[in-house]
Amino acid sequence: MALDIDFVRGQFPAFSEPSLNGQAFFENAGGSYTCKPVIDRLTRFYTQRKVQPYGPYEASRLGGAEMDEARTRMAALLGVEADELSFGPSTTQNTYVLAQAVRQWMQPGEAIVVTNQDHEANSGPWRRLAEDGIEIREWKLDPESGHLNPQALEDLLDERVRLVCFPHCSNVVGEINPVTEITAIAHAAGAFVCVDGVSYAPHGFPNVGELGPDIYLFSSYKTYGPHQGCMVIRRALGELLPNQAHFFNSDVLYKRFTPAGPDHAQIAACAGMADYVDQLCDHHGGPASGAVARGAFVHDLMRAHEVELLQPLLDAVKDRNAVRLIGPSDAAKRAPTVALSLEGAAEPVAAELAKHGIMAGGGDFYAVRALQAMGVDPARGVLRLSFTHYTSEAEIDQLLDALDRVL
Ligand SMILES: Cc1ncc(COP(=O)(O)O)c(C=O)c1O
Repeated sequence: MALDIDFVRGQFPAFSEPSLNGQAFFENAGGSYTCKPVIDRLTRFYTQRKVQPYGPYEASRLGGAEMDEARTRMAALLGVEADELSFGPSTTQNTYVLAQAVRQWMQPGEAIVVTNQDHEANSGPWRRLAEDGIEIREWKLDPESGHLNPQALEDLLDERVRLVCFPHCSNVVGEINPVTEITAIAHAAGAFVCVDGVSYAPHGFPNVGELGPDIYLFSSYKTYGPHQGCMVIRRALGELLPNQAHFFNSDVLYKRFTPAGPDHAQIAACAGMADYVDQLCDHHGGPASGAVARGAFVHDLMRAHEVELLQPLLDAVKDRNAVRLIGPSDAAKRAPTVALSLEGAAEPVAAELAKHGIMAGGGDFYAVRALQAMGVDPARGVLRLSFTHYTSEAEIDQLLDALDRVL
């Protein structure tokens, strides 16, 4: 069963918005378009339920119930318990809070492994623990390919390592890292695992329970939802790390690492992401029950469509003179987040592409360490072309045509 692209695009108001007509969107790794169920829920919340939630009056009861629904349904999709998912303002803010908890939990002399492939959000907050005597060990990517070799991680592990942090997929390398394999290596050495899933989750929600990490983070503004950071913390670690919320909330797992008052409307609207997955599943004749099975079906549909569209783009850029494709040239190994290092600065090239109706960006995308490690000057940056399952073949053609003119 192939993805019904017309049906998909019908769920995104942006595709029928006159001001965006003719503009092909290729900066999805920065933030996706928002699906209609999310927009509808946001509108309903702001018009009908914009009161303090969890009170004894109807509008409040409905608002609170919708926030719970979002957490419960999204957790079910991710294959974890409802209280193992929490929402914070962004992934970066979530990692800063987590790092604060880890700072209190770890002892000087113990170690954390971080990569130089990550976005700074899953790197800098952990590296700062060096100030408290925590040893930081860097798992380095291959400077040519950008690849992270799991064998190299084994050499960094010993009984002092308490936590291993790495991306499911880097936002500039694009290669999908084998989370289950890496997690097994870290767990065998007695370390917990924190995975940044921000660049992966837009391409199909993963079954986090099965993948196995102790922490899995993603940002819902890149998964067709509102601007939130979604954070799975498995119970064993969540109960071990010191509470970062008000003392009287310490018994509630999903509150322990989100100290600030949450954005009620946006959390409620996150249920719209589950609505969207359900719509896709039902429309394409997926399994009738089981959130994880339905999510997996939709994940595979999205992925197959993306891989099919991605290979021609990779083929068109991989052997081009004066262009260095970052990451694998085999679509099956990567997300459709394609960074190109050019001879000059990338930003002006993105501006040229805009004249041809291509919305893309150039820069370091907060992956400064990864670019430096691959010999790319972050000031020059990379041109990044990123798409998702709602991208059409015609838009890829438009992009290829524009690249021919601009590169
Ligand atoms: C791979 C990756 N990790 C983390 C982040 C940070 O997410 P947030 O903007 O929610 O802090 C981003 C944002 O672009 C990202 O691409």
